[in-house]
Amino acid sequence: MEHDERRSAPATLRNRGPILDVLGPLLPERGLMLEVASGTGEHVVHFARHLPALRWQPSDPSPDARASIAAWTVAEGAGNVLPPLALDAASEPWPITHADAVVCINMIHISSWAATEGLMRGAARILSAGQPLYLYGPYRRPDRVLEPGNAAFDADLRRRDSRWGLRDLDAVAACGEAQGLTLERIVEMPANNLSVILRKR
Ligand SMILES: C[S@@+](CC[C@H](N)C(=O)[O-])C[C@H]1O[C@@H](n2cnc3c(N)ncnc32)[C@H](O)[C@@H]1O
Repeated sequence: MEHDERRSAPATLRNRGPILDVLGPLLPERGLMLEVASGTGEHVVHFARHLPALRWQPSDPSPDARASIAAWTVAEGAGNVLPPLALDAASEPWPITHADAVVCINMIHISSWAATEGLMRGAARILSAGQPLYLYGPYRRPDRVLEPGNAAFDADLRRRDSRWGLRDLDAVAACGEAQGLTLERIVEMPANNLSVILRKR
């Protein structure tokens, strides 16, 4: 039997439903959706199955992740998922010049701040006015004490890589604002995560 390159992250099975509930209504009826940091690819095949009129462009800088995304796409017979791009949010230029929405789940706290800056710059460049950037993950909020689970997660991330850690939501929003992406809405999600929706001005 051939080696199966599909990888699996248990959290994706828990969060993909709640994410799709928020993401689906935000997206246009047709067009190309870019996912930055697709990881295993389990999210993109799920979204593609439930939103079949949209074309999905997954991406990840990791070759192992891209192999997993491609394997999930084949296994699911997802005809509306394109082959994954090698896209590092922090690197210029991006290997894509246009998308009708950008989705980025659980990257901002597990990458350098340069990746967030690059994400905002790149998304602002490839989106047209009025189109959304959807972010999902845990954040610090100025008016709230970090929940114990997120505080432990943050400490663990920082131990693993000093450039990682939960970001201040205000700093992320300001970073988007500086590139022409306005914070539109924050939605509380299960397990102390947030959906953060920005829109190109
Ligand atoms: C925790 S995983 C999340 C994957 C997937 N979105 C999910 O929620 O299961 C973080 C992902 O971010 C990717 N990543 C890290 N740095 C990145 C960067 N600079 N640009 C794009 N992706 C990056 C990693 O390769 C990894 O696949």
